[in-house]
Amino acid sequence: MFMTKRIGVLLSGRGSNFEALADSIAAGRIPNAEVAIVVSNREDAPGIARAKSRSIATKVIPSKGLERETYDRQVVAVLHEHEVDLVCLAGYMRLLSPYFVTAFPSRILNIHPSLLPSFPGLESQKQALEYGAKFAGCTVHFVDENLDAGPIILQAAVPVEDDDTEASLSEKILREEHRIYTEAVKLVLAGQYKITGRRVTRTEK
Ligand code: GRF
Repeated sequence: MFMTKRIGVLLSGRGSNFEALADSIAAGRIPNAEVAIVVSNREDAPGIARAKSRSIATKVIPSKGLERETYDRQVVAVLHEHEVDLVCLAGYMRLLSPYFVTAFPSRILNIHPSLLPSFPGLESQKQALEYGAKFAGCTVHFVDENLDAGPIILQAAVPVEDDDTEASLSEKILREEHRIYTEAVKLVLAGQYKITGRRVTRTEK
């Protein structure tokens, strides 16, 4: 018997990556898993409403005025309360403290809309377009305390066409985000990988 793996999703906004994961679980593309809790630092995050409409537990923890670690202790406590095995950042607009990272060693993933290490930070699709890159894409990586850093699990590239706008490029990338986030979560939950230095490679199990 497989134990169901419990995923905690952290988000600050729209929540399309969260929904892609929830859909993938429901469709069996991520086996033996469930979203146990969705946490947000923003009360008005549409992702929270989307989670509620799917009857998934939610928790809003406002961050205003709190030091990073003080805040993260509250978030980690909620994740532990819900017995979370894997933390998925999905448009979560906060850096994690070392305390948080240590609480879930190699158990925190993030999705970023660029081919890292190019274009970390905000508005990555706009950065890629303005830079004149001919390929853009997205990255799922393990999370450490640095911004958009940590070992890369999967990437997908999309071509930048001459008539692409920030909106059209973002849309193309987002489709790939939803696809590779599912793949990466499945891979990590199945334990079919090893990390050597910064390199994440597949193993058979
Ligand atoms: C995505 O582009 C993701 O890569 C980035 O923030 C955005 C979140 O979108 N980290 P959504 O809330 O998942 O729709």
